Amino acid sequence: MIALHKTHPNPMAPYRLAVLTSSDRCSAGLAQDESGPLLESSIVDCGELYSVAEKRTVPDDRLTIEAVLREWCTLRNDIDCVITTGGTGFTARDVTPEATKAVLQKEAPGLVHALMAASLKATPMAALSRLTAGICNRTLIVNFPGSKKACRECFDVLKPLLKHAIDQLREDRGQIDMTHSEQLAVNLPKSECLLGSLLFVLILILLSFRQS
Ligand code: MTE
Repeated sequence: MIALHKTHPNPMAPYRLAVLTSSDRCSAGLAQDESGPLLESSIVDCGELYSVAEKRTVPDDRLTIEAVLREWCTLRNDIDCVITTGGTGFTARDVTPEATKAVLQKEAPGLVHALMAASLKATPMAALSRLTAGICNRTLIVNFPGSKKACRECFDVLKPLLKHAIDQLREDRGQIDMTHSEQLAVNLPKSECLLGSLLFVLILILLSFRQS
């Protein structure tokens, strides 16, 4: 059974996200989906930039998950990022990473490392998630584990990277350049510091040569 949910379409929001919950129990109505709504409110709480364009709950079935991902990333071209939650663990029914890999054209190992590094700081159990991330056409797909706690921790990692990732997928040169120059400004004091330290070391070396 596929459960359809009310979404939060905000036509003014320039970046459109979708949330896919993989859970046998939630899709059968035997449990309440908590991680999907948590992600939805985390996205809405980011402000005017993002909207939840789609939200769905499906069973832990590889072909069903794959079909929804293809629908969102291939048939329609207005979804910038799909966040999946659930089905990343070790049980026989955990197949979200396999379904995701089947639709990915490019992998995003840096994103997986970032999510895993932050998750491992929160709990050693993070090592039991097989989450993956990558690109299908112009849509970023990211797997999160199935708990509210894990989704909160993983969203904290994705949030600061998301806009720049989407701008790159859209090849929006103006936005990309703006973020790069902001980055440069942030790093400037550091590089100035490094230059100063190098000059200081150089002066010390010159002085020691003069004395000898
Ligand atoms: N990652 C974070 N950041 N925080 C967590 O609490 N829980 C782990 C792991 N990843 C966790 C986490 C646990 S206990 C499991 S079993 C796996 O995610 C798989 O979860 P899933 O099958 O619901 O996707």
